[in-house]
Amino acid sequence: MCGIVGAVAQRNVTPILVEGLRRLEYRGYDSAGVAVVDAGKKLHLTRAVGKVSQLAEALAAQPPQPGSGRIGIAHTRWATHGVPAERNSHPHVSRDVAVVHNGIIENHEELRAELTAAGFKFNSETDTEVAAHLIQHLIDQGQDLRTAVQNAIRRFHGAYALAVISATEPNHLLLARKGSPLCIGLGIGETFAASDATALLPVTNRFVYLDEGDLAEIRTDGYEIFDADGKTAQREVRISSQSADAADRGPYRHYMLKEIFEQPLALANTLEGRISEGHVLESFLGPKAGELLAKVERVQIAACGTSAHAGMVARYWIEEIARVPCAVDLASEFRYRDPVIEAGTLFITISQSGETADTLEALRHAKTKKIAASIVICNAPESSLVRESDIALMTHAGPERSVASTKAFTTQLMALALVTLLLARRRGLTAEKEKHYVKSLLSASAKVEQVLKQDDVLKKLAERLIHKQHALFLGRGTMFPVALEGALKLKEISYIHAEAYAAGELKHGPLALVDEHMPVIAVAPRDELLEKVKSNLQEVRARGGELIVFADQDAGFQNGPGVTVIGMPHADELIDPMIYTIPLQLLAYHVAVLKGTDVDQPRNLAKSVTVE
Ligand code: AGP
Repeated sequence: MCGIVGAVAQRNVTPILVEGLRRLEYRGYDSAGVAVVDAGKKLHLTRAVGKVSQLAEALAAQPPQPGSGRIGIAHTRWATHGVPAERNSHPHVSRDVAVVHNGIIENHEELRAELTAAGFKFNSETDTEVAAHLIQHLIDQGQDLRTAVQNAIRRFHGAYALAVISATEPNHLLLARKGSPLCIGLGIGETFAASDATALLPVTNRFVYLDEGDLAEIRTDGYEIFDADGKTAQREVRISSQSADAADRGPYRHYMLKEIFEQPLALANTLEGRISEGHVLESFLGPKAGELLAKVERVQIAACGTSAHAGMVARYWIEEIARVPCAVDLASEFRYRDPVIEAGTLFITISQSGETADTLEALRHAKTKKIAASIVICNAPESSLVRESDIALMTHAGPERSVASTKAFTTQLMALALVTLLLARRRGLTAEKEKHYVKSLLSASAKVEQVLKQDDVLKKLAERLIHKQHALFLGRGTMFPVALEGALKLKEISYIHAEAYAAGELKHGPLALVDEHMPVIAVAPRDELLEKVKSNLQEVRARGGELIVFADQDAGFQNGPGVTVIGMPHADELIDPMIYTIPLQLLAYHVAVLKGTDVDQPRNLAKSVTVE
């Protein structure tokens, strides 16, 4: 949720920390802060409410003394305990010790009472401040920084990633991971740390990922890792293939728009190397894939938000095309409902970030049962879900910076279509049918390109929605999750209340909401449900609702009073969800721009949700 950056170097690390925070801003952004050790062995603390740019201004006004700042930690916060305010921003300081923290220390109240009794004064409402005071308390009792951190984390219940410095030991920075991601970046004569490797790409491409329960010490000349039992541990050094510039916005006004327009290329990238001569190659899932897939009797999908919508689309495909029973759960519900997970289950998680806490916990829970295999559909190669799944199917969408997920969704669909075809082949899908589906997947990029050309039409259409308070989205079959995704996009970036329903459900309740103030947006490709959708839409018109219909150009929908039809290219049913999502993304984007909201970083949200 929050973002952590740390560095130990022979130069002033403040600019590296601030740039790292900028790159992590997608994780949370209500306040930010930096602590470095200055030349007089004192902590130099700067914190600001708002975005990282506000912190940068505060630092420019009061920079650390020249020649100082060779060790430091920084944080961008997304409030969990305590309102967004400077006193609640990280780093939290207890005399010589500064701490940044991601996650939640669940027993913080008990520790707070204990430390208050020991004479420590609390200045914030956060759970993190107990970590700073407890570590200082243990140092006061004669422990060195590493021992104090080691003993402090033994007292914490909950999930955390911590980075700690002390002004009295300015040569090393301590890190601890339990439940929230943390990696070490290896430089030459300098070492870094961050919640996400993206933060450190300008300074290194060599990373070491901490495992659950690890404690690490980083210094200018290297690092040391200790496992949960305190024994020295070795973790693999990984070279990141991501480039520091891939995340730049280019000519686009917002990352979201850039990412929407990247979809034709991103979809092609998801397919690259995975199909050949009308055939899906199983080998791209790795050497164990054949053996693991052979055991699959059913599929269980778990994911959150947009990724869960991708899973809902996939359920239609997996049951209809592969004839394999498939269930989809919101990961946040799945992990708490004691689900029955039968032997032979292929457990699929879907996650752009690969770090969503609920999805990760759902996977960990499933792995305690006798599942056939776990697959993650993911866009972050070095993420926790990738490391903990049997098979990782990377979407290759490229970095997605906008909080509102766009290209991650359509590429997840593409990856799920590939998995569907692999499962279907094992259940007797004919080579001819497979060839037909592969051809349709290959045509998706061009069809999406065609829809993107309608950008101006959608911009105009957006003007009609900006004064609305509510909107309804309708779809049937695979278009129902597409409608859910359209509603999520509109609400998260434009703050217009939007709901989606399976069109057939309209008359079972939501129709009561329809009057001349309620825009109803329907996605209605020319599939076998078209006629049913048409009659649902009649029900809306009869109540004066304003209809916006995205329909196949040959579907026979006519513009008329209160009805606006946007013609969509004709495509195979399999790829319709990828195509019909595009205008809904563009519509939400333009409504948000016209309303003047913070499109890429909408209020109260974070790109990567690493807390429950
Ligand atoms: C949607 O636009 C959001 N970004 C959100 O719903 C997101 O899909 C969800 O938090 C899951 O994230 P993940 O794909 O990184 O696991």
